[in-house]
Amino acid sequence: AKFTLVDPETCIACGACGAAAPDIFDYDDEGIAFSRLDNNQGITPVSFQLKDDLEDACEGCPTESIKIAEQPFEGDPDKFL
Ligand code: F3S
Repeated sequence: AKFTLVDPETCIACGACGAAAPDIFDYDDEGIAFSRLDNNQGITPVSFQLKDDLEDACEGCPTESIKIAEQPFEGDPDKFL
């Protein structure tokens, strides 16, 4: 399974991820993205149906703020650095 979250420290609110993967990413009042799957905790497996959207969003992010891992992030974007 894949897990994902956004690093809000590096997101520049460009808005690409929600367009590529609207079922995964949404934005807060300031346009900073987060994963709607689990309030950006990175603990809910991304469903198989959303895998391509996730890859598109990750590749399209200009600041590499979308993190993907094979294990849960437990809310920490830097967990697997
Ligand atoms: Fe932010 Fe990257 Fe999405 S900059 S709005 S996480 S595409």
